[in-house]
Amino acid sequence: MSDYQRQNQSAWNRLSDGSQFAKVASDEECRQPLKALDSRGWLPQSVAGLNVLCLASGGGWQSILYAAAGARVTVVDLSPGMLELDRKEARRRGLSVTTIEASMDDLPMLGDATFDIVHQPVSTCYVPDLEKVYAEIARVSRDDGLYISQHKVPTSLQIAHRDDCNRFVIGVEYYHTGPLPKVEDTSYRETGAVEYLHRWDQLVGGLCRAGFVIEDLREPKRADPTAKVDHFGYRGRFVAPYVRMKARRVRRSTQEDAVSPQLWLPR
Ligand SMILES: C[S@@+](CC[C@H](N)C(=O)[O-])C[C@H]1O[C@@H](n2cnc3c(N)ncnc32)[C@H](O)[C@@H]1O
Repeated sequence: MSDYQRQNQSAWNRLSDGSQFAKVASDEECRQPLKALDSRGWLPQSVAGLNVLCLASGGGWQSILYAAAGARVTVVDLSPGMLELDRKEARRRGLSVTTIEASMDDLPMLGDATFDIVHQPVSTCYVPDLEKVYAEIARVSRDDGLYISQHKVPTSLQIAHRDDCNRFVIGVEYYHTGPLPKVEDTSYRETGAVEYLHRWDQLVGGLCRAGFVIEDLREPKRADPTAKVDHFGYRGRFVAPYVRMKARRVRRSTQEDAVSPQLWLPR
């Protein structure tokens, strides 16, 4: 395991103890699991019997809801602490969930074309190479499979601090590579975690190049006009922190056609 992974694993083991990301699904959410998971209507009417990969989504929320909706669920996460929440909650509710401790960019334990849905909450910021992550997701997704994901947007990760008028200062270069520096303004950053900036070209273009078509893209609104200046809702008025995408795996036969030599015959 590399240093950044070790550091993120221990950061997330700590966050598995009572943080906002470690809240298991409630009874009310479990009564209407698809409604809780999918306020935008991106999922099929039923996920019963579908193979779902909850990627980097330990913590007992997504996995429990998909399992409550009848899906066959595999959760992959780097943090044993987060995965323990999935196992404990699944046991308590009599649901079945398979948990795997692994990094999202290296999934040799998962077979090709296995999953109907891959669902990934905000987490690509914890790996340096997004191309590897998308390649793995493309490999394990079935033809026409759904990939639902949320990511931190580059501008939000570029903010370093505030000036005297509480204006947000972009202090990290857009083309920054390597771990992000520690910053004063820590809204939307997790203490102790090593994070990386991925540009739009990599987040959106990279997904298309990996073999997906994007069917929808949303920016969850975190702006709160009543928030105090030091609250993340205030910052959300100026910079949208997240982007959420609905993408579909291109059929492998279509993808092969697209690079077929016939298309490149000289005129
Ligand atoms: C924002 S949390 C998502 C979990 C949560 N269920 C949610 O949506 O509220 C991000 C997750 O990514 C995981 N993670 C960080 N680096 C990872 C990696 N390289 N591979 C897999 N999971 C990773 C963390 O352990 C953590 O559980």
